[in-house]
Amino acid sequence: MASALPSSALPSVLVLNGPNLGRLGVREPEIYGHASMADLEVAAAKWGEDLGLAIEVRQTDNESEIVGWLHEAVDAGAHVVLNPAAFTHYSYALRDAAAQVTTAGLLLVEVHLSNPATRESFRHYSVVAGIATGTVAGFGFDSYRLALSAIAERLAG
Ligand code: DQA
Repeated sequence: MASALPSSALPSVLVLNGPNLGRLGVREPEIYGHASMADLEVAAAKWGEDLGLAIEVRQTDNESEIVGWLHEAVDAGAHVVLNPAAFTHYSYALRDAAAQVTTAGLLLVEVHLSNPATRESFRHYSVVAGIATGTVAGFGFDSYRLALSAIAERLAG
């Protein structure tokens, strides 16, 4: 489990990534690109500075860990950008944990690097989409930047 959320005067956003996303850069680069999860962390830190958000990026292959991180977001009052990866398509445990974020009045944006709607049919259904504040898909790393920007704009009212 990663460290507890740092306290910050800025709104906190957890950027949570599911299974196989730690393999970015080597995994199917024709679909997911050549940049790594470490590159995403660097980019997200810069976007956080620009947008006035305290951002922490995490990745796990473990369903119970990402469920725990969603509970942590609720308890800490942190907003969430969530790439559930393959869990998107079948994990009701993840969906139920993500629902607690939005029912707590926090923002949760589902993101995907690729556009699952254009891919295999098993990727067309998201169990998370119905409880998310919104979804951004198909723009590579820009999906995350757009999601963070939407959160910052929503918080600015
Ligand atoms: C993904 C799309 C999912 O279908 C897939 O299982 C992933 C990555 C994306 O970011 O495009 O692992 O969430």
